[in-house]
Amino acid sequence: PVSHRIKDLLNRMTLEEKIGQMVQIDESRASAEVMKKNYIGSILSGPGHAAEKTSPEMWVDMVNDFQKGSLSSRLGIPLIYGIDAVHGHNNVYKATLFPHNIGLGATRDPELVKKIGAATALEVRATGIPYAFAPCIAVCRDPRWGRCYESYSEDPNVVQAMTEIISGLQGDLPANYEKGIPYVAGKQKVAACAKHFVGDGGTTKGIDENNTVISRHDLLSIHMPAYYTSIIKGVSTIMVSFSSWNSIKMHANRDLVTGFLKDTMHFRGFVISDWQGIDKITSPPHEDYPHSVQAGVNAGIDMIMVPFAFKEFIDDLTSLVKNNSVPMSRIDDAVERILRVKFTMGLFENPLADYSMSKYLGCQEHRELAREAVRKSLVLLKNGGSTEKPLLPLPKKASKILVAGTHADNIGYQCGGWTMGWQGKSGNITQGTTILEAIRNTVDPKTIVTSRKNPDAEYLKSNDFSYAIVVVGEPPYAEWLGDNLNLTLPDPGPTIITNVCASVKCVVVLITGRPVVIQPFVDQIDALVAAWLPGTEGQGVADVLFGDYGFSGKLPHTWFKTVDQLPMNVGDKHYDPLYPFGYGLATETTKADQ
Ligand code: IFM
Repeated sequence: PVSHRIKDLLNRMTLEEKIGQMVQIDESRASAEVMKKNYIGSILSGPGHAAEKTSPEMWVDMVNDFQKGSLSSRLGIPLIYGIDAVHGHNNVYKATLFPHNIGLGATRDPELVKKIGAATALEVRATGIPYAFAPCIAVCRDPRWGRCYESYSEDPNVVQAMTEIISGLQGDLPANYEKGIPYVAGKQKVAACAKHFVGDGGTTKGIDENNTVISRHDLLSIHMPAYYTSIIKGVSTIMVSFSSWNSIKMHANRDLVTGFLKDTMHFRGFVISDWQGIDKITSPPHEDYPHSVQAGVNAGIDMIMVPFAFKEFIDDLTSLVKNNSVPMSRIDDAVERILRVKFTMGLFENPLADYSMSKYLGCQEHRELAREAVRKSLVLLKNGGSTEKPLLPLPKKASKILVAGTHADNIGYQCGGWTMGWQGKSGNITQGTTILEAIRNTVDPKTIVTSRKNPDAEYLKSNDFSYAIVVVGEPPYAEWLGDNLNLTLPDPGPTIITNVCASVKCVVVLITGRPVVIQPFVDQIDALVAAWLPGTEGQGVADVLFGDYGFSGKLPHTWFKTVDQLPMNVGDKHYDPLYPFGYGLATETTKADQ
């Protein structure tokens, strides 16, 4: 049994080998030699390295090269390679990119999300990688947070239900599987990582990495339940949050990391820090580093993601163990957990990848699944008014239609942050279908589709359009660079809406990672759709706009009227939203009569 194998190996390991297992270094600092010499346990490819390796085979070769270094170390312990795959494998050209979590939350469909987890696992494995830093199970309580779109919902129940993605990423647990033990069902699955423990979505004003000031009761009832569900589903790893809870850095919070997560909730996989999370225990980061290492490791962090200088980390932790500031039992616990994940996922038996899975990357089946997810994620907020007729579904047959807006023909914008780079990108950065292309694919061949990013009054006056589809929204962003205290719809979105909707019947499709200020425009708009960050399959948007499928998405977050109402969540005393949590109009499919 695995427990014997772990014990046997632990007994044979030196302190140096044990501490090496606890370190995860960045790809840019790794080599086969470094792995072997320092007994490093893990590597990650940070989001910045994505675009350099354009084919799955290049990834496989690179990961294998590092792995061979690890296998040639004294005890030959394989490394575990990790990557962010937060809406599909967002780091390699051609991958299928699914809607970001906010859109998946709108589907309210855990089975669909499980399938997305399974598809993501195959595409990540296609690049030789066995470990994904997903899912983000943050409960975003304030859309000003730059990571709001990584959160399935403001509602703990929705987030809890969506942890079903873990069963897709890792596989279904065998019957009678012992609670808390990590599980990964072999070579077609990956180790998952529930993040960021805990309360990351509850910081004041949604400021990233900041302070979550709430009672223990609220922490446990709002932000903790999804961790419990994740553990029940056998999640292999849990990442600690940069944020603090009532001014105590989570990376130094022994009460919650060891006391609650490990002891009370019986989590038996490994706890990983966030990127230089231990360094950031102090402010400014990296001051009194030995103190931070002691606080972080004693709090219960098992694997340290990218310490600022990994040799310094190793030296400091070694001294701390030698002078009894970090007990040897704590090191053994950490390494036991890391080895447990490596053994249970079969890394010792199958440490090296081959090219056989590259066929899964961006395959037709996965793109169809992503398209289905897009269809189900769309939330219809307005469709005509009390006196006007509904505009949607749109007729496919029309003489001439206008597709306007900055986001109509831009795969990068559709995908948002964490796409071929940390902050995402603009333009045709990976394969997929833009919303404009999808509209052209869907309308009657005789319908003339014209497209203008920002049509002026003259152009609008001199053309006779049957209707217009305006696609506007936020440019891509990630983490704190997306924090936004005013949440206004970025320019030229407001101008485009005002101009187009003043002269043509119009549906506005919003491509945003969260609710934004839309109230001033609602009366100008005939129909309004929240499409979130749909990913590569823009065809899903056209499928629903033109009635091949009905609208069914429900708001995963409260849509506020003005930012001074924030934070405002369902159940609050003074709840006065523009559109409440759970809102979403339905339309019937008109497929049969077209
Ligand atoms: O997984 C991420 C995390 O969500 C934010 N900091 C960096 C990690 C690794 O890229």
